[in-house]
Amino acid sequence: MAEKKLLKRETYCGAVREEHAGRDLTVYGWVNNMRELGGLTFIDLRDREGLLQIVVNETFAEPALLKRIGKETVLAVSGRVVKRAKPNPDLPSGQVELIASAIDILAPSAVPPFVPENRANVSEELRFKHRYIDLRNLDMQRNFKLRSKINLLTRNFLDREGFLDIETPILSNATPEGARDYLVPSRIYKGRFFALPQSPQQFKQLLMISGFERYFQITRCFRDEDLRADRQLEFTQIDIEMSFAEPDELFAIIERLMRDVFALSGHDIALPFRRLSYREAMEKYGSDKPDLRIPFTIEDFTSEAATWKSELLNSALAQGAKVKGLAIPAAGAFSRKQLDEINETAKKLGGKGVIWMRKTEDGFKSSLKVFGADIADLFAKRKIDPGALLLLVADAEMPALALAGRLREHLGKKFQDKDQLEFLWVTDFPLFFQNEEEKRLDSNHHPFTAPRPQDIALLDSEPLAVKAIAYDLVLNGIELGGGSRRIHDIALQKKVFQMLGLEEREIEDRFGFFLNALSFGAPPHLGIALGFDRLLMLLTGEDSIREVIAFPKTTSSLCLLTGSPSVVSQRQLDELGIAIKN
Ligand code: AMO
Repeated sequence: MAEKKLLKRETYCGAVREEHAGRDLTVYGWVNNMRELGGLTFIDLRDREGLLQIVVNETFAEPALLKRIGKETVLAVSGRVVKRAKPNPDLPSGQVELIASAIDILAPSAVPPFVPENRANVSEELRFKHRYIDLRNLDMQRNFKLRSKINLLTRNFLDREGFLDIETPILSNATPEGARDYLVPSRIYKGRFFALPQSPQQFKQLLMISGFERYFQITRCFRDEDLRADRQLEFTQIDIEMSFAEPDELFAIIERLMRDVFALSGHDIALPFRRLSYREAMEKYGSDKPDLRIPFTIEDFTSEAATWKSELLNSALAQGAKVKGLAIPAAGAFSRKQLDEINETAKKLGGKGVIWMRKTEDGFKSSLKVFGADIADLFAKRKIDPGALLLLVADAEMPALALAGRLREHLGKKFQDKDQLEFLWVTDFPLFFQNEEEKRLDSNHHPFTAPRPQDIALLDSEPLAVKAIAYDLVLNGIELGGGSRRIHDIALQKKVFQMLGLEEREIEDRFGFFLNALSFGAPPHLGIALGFDRLLMLLTGEDSIREVIAFPKTTSSLCLLTGSPSVVSQRQLDELGIAIKN
């Protein structure tokens, strides 16, 4: 069959407006819906910009053609735009309709497993299997238009700030970022493997040593880790590195970038962002990525608790426990069932339970049987609203803070307004944490992170007290980015590798090339990487980054569309020198 020459498209369906009335137009699109009413056929034609109502009336020359049109058929429709007798206020094109004079069926469609409009009521399994249909949904089209625009805005912004876009390898050696690597076998060197980058960390540092001074890349990273709503196996970072700069300079650049990005979707954000040290964040919010929209914070009640006559508390305090409290606004009237649920939640979160105190019709009450103190007095002294529910947890300091932090998030859900944007820099993270499983130190960020100069003396004596020049950017309780000043001194870098338990041989094998580069004039440098998918998730108000990634994996790490990961042929395995163990 000879290919038909396409009519020229004059405008998108979704962009037809009153000013087009009286004009002849050709539009292309998919049949969103089709219905007959009083001898007329109405077709809602959909393209990436939206819907347009097509009317097929008695003047249409080929009525038999209508029988071949169904949902998701692809059409070219020509005709005259007219004002509607009954406008549809819910549709941007709802003031007008197009009276069809010619219809071309450009492609038929099998009966679709679901229609794009109805995606919210369809299982993720079915949507991901037919992702191309899922993506036809207009909200999804909007997400990806925004993604494209933010990508371009970021590039232009960073270009203006003097950053160069330089690509780094995808096939390389491992970059330690705390996850497992994806390995790619080498055919030529059997038994040897490339690793996909968990981030371009070492390469961007090498680019600083090469003298580029300001680098950026919007690039894919790969991490073999358990998936969650804000995690994928492959994801995109806005990756940035700069030489001869202080963190304040980088913070200001990122803040201006965020202001421009959020302005594009109609948000006016206030600069500069708040800053909290890791220590302050843990003490007030029990989290290193606190959601500042939740209006209540953690307070310490250890000194008051020492005066109470509860055996339970007294014995915990004698063992060094701290008592941390949360006053939940307007929760004093919770039912017994709700209080029991909070207690159960605390246990599920790894705690021993909670103590509550509140004002009831019969005066102040507590879940502590023997109390011997005046709760009314406690509420007054600590300025707690009498309508609030005071929750207390007792444990060693860090577990108590972490539990209070998780209860704060759990009970603060109703305050999480998606339109409120609370940015925060969290700074001064500990350089290391104790990896209890492997009985050694681990990096909190990555091993290239620099300690604060004033803490270098503590590296040997008190490594867990050493703070890093490391920072995270947090938005509404989600870690949007992280970065640090880097070690640019070869001796210090070697020492940190040793402290992480790496043997001399391993340091040489894995990082010899990098240490070598540090010996040839490495400038002081620092950087950051922002999670591009997480940024889009927050901008679009979606609950998962899967909604802003065109072809994501399921939470069980599968691509349902292509069926990957898949079995490969014996011939391919032989070529790579690989045998599969059962
Ligand atoms: P980090 O590991 O903190 O730092 O990653 C930076 C940001 O990337 C995003 N991110 C992810 N997004 C989706 N899925 C994932 N699995 C995932 N993992 C991380 C987060 C995170 O804040 N090289 C350093 C940066 C630096 O030091 O400059 C790094 O990769 O938003």
